[in-house]
Amino acid sequence: MAEGGKPMRLWGGRFEGGPADALTRLSVSVQFDWRLAPYDLLASRAHARVLHRAGLLSEAELERMLAALDDLEEACKSGGFRPTVADEDVHTALERGLLERLGSLGGKLRAGRSRNDQVATDLRLYLRDHVRLIASRLVELETALMSQAEEHAATAAPGMTHLQHAQPVSFGHQLLAHVHPIARDVDRLRDWDRRAAVSPLGAGALAGSSLPLDPQAVAEELGFDSAAPNSMDAVADRDFAAEFLFCAALVGVHLSRLGEEIVLWASQEFHWIEMDDAYSTGSSIMPQKKNPDVAELARGKAGRLIGNLVSLLTTLKGLPLTYNRDLQEDKEPVFDAVDTLLLVLPAVSGLVSTMRVNTARLESSAPDGFALATDLAELLVRKGVAFREAHEAVGHLVVWCQVNDTTFEKLTEEDLAKISPHFVAPGALDVLNVQGALASRKAYGGTAPDRVRDQLATLREIVDGQAAWASGS
Ligand code: ARG
Repeated sequence: MAEGGKPMRLWGGRFEGGPADALTRLSVSVQFDWRLAPYDLLASRAHARVLHRAGLLSEAELERMLAALDDLEEACKSGGFRPTVADEDVHTALERGLLERLGSLGGKLRAGRSRNDQVATDLRLYLRDHVRLIASRLVELETALMSQAEEHAATAAPGMTHLQHAQPVSFGHQLLAHVHPIARDVDRLRDWDRRAAVSPLGAGALAGSSLPLDPQAVAEELGFDSAAPNSMDAVADRDFAAEFLFCAALVGVHLSRLGEEIVLWASQEFHWIEMDDAYSTGSSIMPQKKNPDVAELARGKAGRLIGNLVSLLTTLKGLPLTYNRDLQEDKEPVFDAVDTLLLVLPAVSGLVSTMRVNTARLESSAPDGFALATDLAELLVRKGVAFREAHEAVGHLVVWCQVNDTTFEKLTEEDLAKISPHFVAPGALDVLNVQGALASRKAYGGTAPDRVRDQLATLREIVDGQAAWASGS
């Protein structure tokens, strides 16, 4: 931030003395809201045109105004114009830039608008842009997970509940189980965008303007679906920010759950995957270590994303209509959530796309822990045994195996006959194989490799649509 010159305030007229330093320091937001500058300039162009159409700016004045706004934008980009600590906020800084270029003509742009409708508009514009960027990064993660899933559609893995071996699953199925939540996240952001596409500009401070402005035309020019139907709600509403923060927090939770799984998979005990060197870290003391820091940070970032949501909801709770300065506290949580997601998502995608899956280890451990017990019980059910009895018989078989220190794979027909007459059935041993168990779960949504491939095809279509939306096509 540049050194401040003489402070320029947008509200000096009715004050005799200047503000206390402590107030200035508390009040200033330009150090974080400066990133709204491109959106403030966009909105300023639309506002200049509407002032012109209202007869409040001549043709020549409009041209000078637009040229100055272009020049200011260039200067902002090149760093030739920078906010100073003496500018209270982004709106103040940009008005200073305009006055430097246009003299008193620069002061005409403020007619009919207020920082209250400006800041609400800027934040919506910023977020609608960045939500698409975030969606693109989410699509990359979906794609990384789907490529691995395609390769491992038929790789058997131990499926778990309570982190205990439950039933074998396709590892591809498990990977796709992480794609669906992300796909819902992107869908949620698209749905969010529909509600966020409302322009507050024209609401002024709170009551609209006595000048003949045209909020609907401004809304259209800025890519919104419509102008806000109520000027008071327009400046007081931050639902779009809270709702975005909820979407971001839920992405955080999904990344955290995926991160936790990857931490487990990479452990010596699981040894399901090997992380690529580029996406793992070492220890400063233990030369042998390869740590899953990307997955851990993905897990850890959920905390701040949830915190950002709680922070804004708490700020909003109990605010009277309409604009209150509390609302300035909306921006940092929103910016932090955007930055956090844009930082963490490429790393998680890289980790997923480069990890090597230890297929042999997954397949050999898939039947461990008597994971085929349900298959055996269901075989009995197909033979007419009540599930309750079948469950009991297989339970006894598990205990028998444990006592005799053996596994299902090593059982003989004689062993089975000793446990229960129900097991004296042709094919009883045949169901005790993992690939058969996977293939038999072939109903819609099941883990049979063929169903996993169908699921993948459906997801690809969904993700293609999401990618197109995110890139604006
Ligand atoms: N910087 C303020 C914010 O972020 C916008 C200015 C509105 N200030 C005001 N005193 N009406 O909310």
